[in-house]
Amino acid sequence: MRTQVGIVGAGPAGLLLAHLLGRDGIGSVVVERRSREHLERRVRAGVLEQGTTDLLDTAGVGERMRREGMVHHGIELRFGGDGHRIDFAALTGGYGITVYGQQEVVKDLLAAREAAGALPLFECEDVEPAGLDGDRPAIHFIHAGERHELQCEIVAGCDGSHGVCLPSAPNGALVAYEREYPFAWLGILAEVAPSTEELIYARHERGFALHSMRSPVLSRFYLQCERDADPGDWTDERIWDELRTRLALDLASGPIVEKGVTPMRSFVVEPMQSGRLFLAGDAAHIVPPTGAKGLNLAVADVRVLAAALRDHFATGDDAGLRAYSDTCLRRVWRAEHFSWWMTSMLHRFPDGAGFEEKLQRSQLEYVVGSEAAATTLAENYVGLGTA
Ligand code: APR
Ligand code: PHB
Repeated sequence: MRTQVGIVGAGPAGLLLAHLLGRDGIGSVVVERRSREHLERRVRAGVLEQGTTDLLDTAGVGERMRREGMVHHGIELRFGGDGHRIDFAALTGGYGITVYGQQEVVKDLLAAREAAGALPLFECEDVEPAGLDGDRPAIHFIHAGERHELQCEIVAGCDGSHGVCLPSAPNGALVAYEREYPFAWLGILAEVAPSTEELIYARHERGFALHSMRSPVLSRFYLQCERDADPGDWTDERIWDELRTRLALDLASGPIVEKGVTPMRSFVVEPMQSGRLFLAGDAAHIVPPTGAKGLNLAVADVRVLAAALRDHFATGDDAGLRAYSDTCLRRVWRAEHFSWWMTSMLHRFPDGAGFEEKLQRSQLEYVVGSEAAATTLAENYVGLGTA
């Protein structure tokens, strides 16, 4: 097998890259270890920056998102029992975000790949990039019981936080920067109308809570929990009680149809490229979900990589590929800081009673009381931090 770009991973990063390359007439093959059903059912984040929705639109995969996505122009911060709206539109000159589930983005991208007759190879085993430091890289894998070698010019590592591409990077030249947080999020999806128009981020003595949504009849919630929490220990009754207390809201409840624990981690690898390997999305960087940046960063990487590959294949101009990592890392570090800051401001830290808690409270009061501070949050949330 031969192609121009071998892509590992069919998450939003890998699928969008394949789609953008295809529109430029550049060949690619996506090698994915899970099934299509698994990808389409996997519930992940759900907030798209305007830059993300614009790109999906331009790429011809934004039609359903425009119909079903919910455009918001602010969020609410809740602490000390009171809510405070951060008005994105007023603070950023009209910007907003779109609430649309990541798995819906994945479904739309898969439909586009299917229409192009270029679906990923699903359920691949023993996926292994090779020859990344030479000029004939390849991806080895087993598909439908047969061993394959996919020869390509470039390997795009879009295989998420537990992928094989990063560990295969040549010559150990990559440096990782990392922070673990002493808590996790319990995420649930419930068949009930949202009890709020906009997202609510709540800081409470019992821990952080977030009220988000997926549609007029589907709500998404998160509760700060122990790092090693067992979702089985969280009965429906306990979840609703805890949400009502922390959100200080008279919440409507409904059947919980999904429940899972998400660890919280910050991680960046530099540079995002080594030899013929280019990393994009979660394969290169992780943010804690408090700033809703993960998917948006993946899309931003892919936008840069697709443009650089277009130049490479059209004219042999590699300036874009050489600048890829530096270009992406500027946005990545802005998002890393913002996500760390939001996380630090809104969560209960196990040994944070006293001084830290007073600082958090002061910071929250500053953010909702000062237009300058609110603008900092708004600008970063809508994705203008590096503009
Ligand atoms: N071989 C093939 N595919 C693999 C391998 C492997 N060894 N390891 C992982 N994958 C696949 C995963 O099954 C997954 O479908 O790579 C894909 C990576 O997708 P995501 O984890 O969704 O990562 P990415 O595309 O970078 O999307 C951005 O940011 O904050 C997050 O939730 C957000 O997942 C989203 C991500
Ligand atoms: C979500 O809806 O899944 C969501 C929203 C905002 C976040 C994180 C996740 O900060």
